[in-house]
Order: sequence, then structure tokens, then C-alpha cells
Amino acid sequence: MPRCEGLMAPKVRPLLLLMLWMLQAPAQLDPANENDGGWQQRGSGAPAAVAEEEHCTIERRADLSYAEFIQHYAFSRPVILLGLTDNSRFRALCSRERLLASFGNNVVRLSTANTYSYQKVDVLFQEYVGQLLHPQDPNSLGNDTLYFFGDNNFTEWASLFRHYIPPPFSLLGTTPAYSFGIAGTGSGVPFHWHGPGFSEVIYGRKRWFLYPPEKTPEFHPNKTTLAWLQDTYPTLTPSTRPLECTVQAGEVLYFPDRWWHATFNLDTSVFISTFLS
Ligand SMILES: *[C@@H]1O[C@H](CO)[C@@H](O)[C@H](O)[C@H]1NC(C)=O
Ligand SMILES: *[C@@H]1O[C@H](CO)[C@@H](O)[C@H](O)[C@H]1NC(C)=O
Ligand SMILES: *[C@@H]1O[C@H](CO)[C@@H](O)[C@H](O)[C@H]1NC(C)=O
Repeated sequence: MPRCEGLMAPKVRPLLLLMLWMLQAPAQLDPANENDGGWQQRGSGAPAAVAEEEHCTIERRADLSYAEFIQHYAFSRPVILLGLTDNSRFRALCSRERLLASFGNNVVRLSTANTYSYQKVDVLFQEYVGQLLHPQDPNSLGNDTLYFFGDNNFTEWASLFRHYIPPPFSLLGTTPAYSFGIAGTGSGVPFHWHGPGFSEVIYGRKRWFLYPPEKTPEFHPNKTTLAWLQDTYPTLTPSTRPLECTVQAGEVLYFPDRWWHATFNLDTSVFISTFLS
């Protein structure tokens, strides 16, 4: 864990470090901290230090009209939507404590975090949260990393999902379907594509990388987004870089049909997609 080493290594000024730690500690340990819903790692489980992009290259639009959405984005480019819906009620229901209380004993189906997810594993939701929801191991492959996203049982989780307000924009001839997920810091899904849809961050931050359908990116389908970010991303020239941006809690990213995309959770993240197909 690079963060821990950074704090431990210097033998100089230990008193100053202790004081800084004491100043920081109460806020991090406060169970009533509603900003993160109780999801962020505390103490030793320090996340891999990966940052937001230097320049967000996806437009952010507040209060976009449906006409503008259709004309400028729906069939041509991604956009981050702000202010269309208020999911504060759903958000409150998605705190760590409330989800564990309501669904801890339910079985959830996990997928592997690679481009073509072959393997599915069923575990109790409380086991996923307690044991598998840790920061991404940089040495693991995507096909060896379990990820909770999609394959949701909408019968068992109906009491939660009925409180989610999806983005109010539909596309002719498509039906919306939800995929709900929770994933650890540094995790993500490597490049893949499918139909159009929306992805809303409920807690945490999710960094997105997107390419139009005709620009197939360079990536290995079994490597993690973290590995791609560390090995391939720095070698990209301006003309081969993806569109990218970090989506914050309460924001909704729209991705058009067949656009390549990879995701990267900068924090432990709770998120929900509305796929249109
Ligand atoms: C994961 O993928 C790698 C490389 O593609 C492969 O060598 C390995 O056997 C795979 N692991 C599993 C568990 O399938
Ligand atoms: C990726 O891993 C899967 C098993 O998890 C394996 O069947 C497949 O061949 C691997 N793909 C590549 C390109 O290595
Ligand atoms: C969803 O949960 C219900 C109730 O526990 C169960 O009967 C059903 O088989 C589950 N559906 C799937 C697809 O797992």
C-alpha cells in the first residue's frame, strides 16, 4: 500500500505526523459522516493512489432539455447530466449500514472484472461487503477479480430499487433496465461496449474512459483498468487519448450505443446504470 509506506517511511518529524493524524482521525472515524454513506475505507485499508484526470473532456450539462439531449448527444457523444433528478432518498437507503441491515443475508451474483465476464460467483451480500470489497490488488488480473455489478435480483431488492429515479430521457424503441453495483477503490471494468445507457454515481467517484465505436482502443481483455491506466494510458498520444472524466456522486453519465468504455472507481463506489436496449 503506497499510502501507508509514505506515512511510515520518514523517521523525521514523527510528532508532526502524529499531530496531523490526530487532526484527521476524528473526521474519518465519524460514523455519522453522511457524505460517504459509511463506504470509505478507514484506517489501514488505504486505497491505491490514483487521481482524477487533468482535463475532463466530456461536457457537463445542467438542466439539459430532452430536445437538446436528442439533438446533441443521444446518437453522437457522451455527456454528464446534472440536476435532472434528485436521488437523495435512494442515496440514504444505500448507506453501508442500511444496505447491510436490509440485504446482508441475500445472495448476490458477482462477475469477474474483465472485458468478457465468463465466471459468476454467488456470495452473501454481507460477505461481499465484509471480505471482497477491498481496494484493487494491482497484481491481480481482471478475470481473477470479483465485482458486484448487475445480475441483480429485482424481486428481493424491490424495496430499494423502487426509490431510484432514473434519468428522464428515453430512446425510442428501447426499454430501461437497471444494473446496481458496489465496488472497491481502484477497481473497474476494462474496455467493452454494448447498447446506450446512463450511469449514476450514488457514493464515491467513478472515472470513465470512452472511445467512439470506430476507434477500438488498445487493451488486454483480462487486465484490470488499473493496469491499463498504469501501463498503457501514459503512452497515449493526444490523438489516441480517450474522452475522459470523473463522475461525482449525484452526476449521471450518458454513453451512446456501441461506444467503447472502461471504468475506474476512485473510491469505494455505489452506482446504478440504466441500460437502454
Ligand atoms: C486470466 O487470464 C490470464 C491471461 O489472459 C490467463 O493466463 C489466466 O489463466 C486467467 N485466469 C483464470 C482464473 O481464468
Ligand atoms: C481471459 O481469461 C479467460 C478465463 O478467465 C480465458 O478463457 C481467456 O482465454 C483469456 N483471454 C485472453 C485474451 O487471454
Ligand atoms: C430472486 O429472488 C427470489 C426470492 O428469493 C427467488 O425466488 C428467485 O429465484 C430469484 N431470482 C433469481 C433470478 O435468482
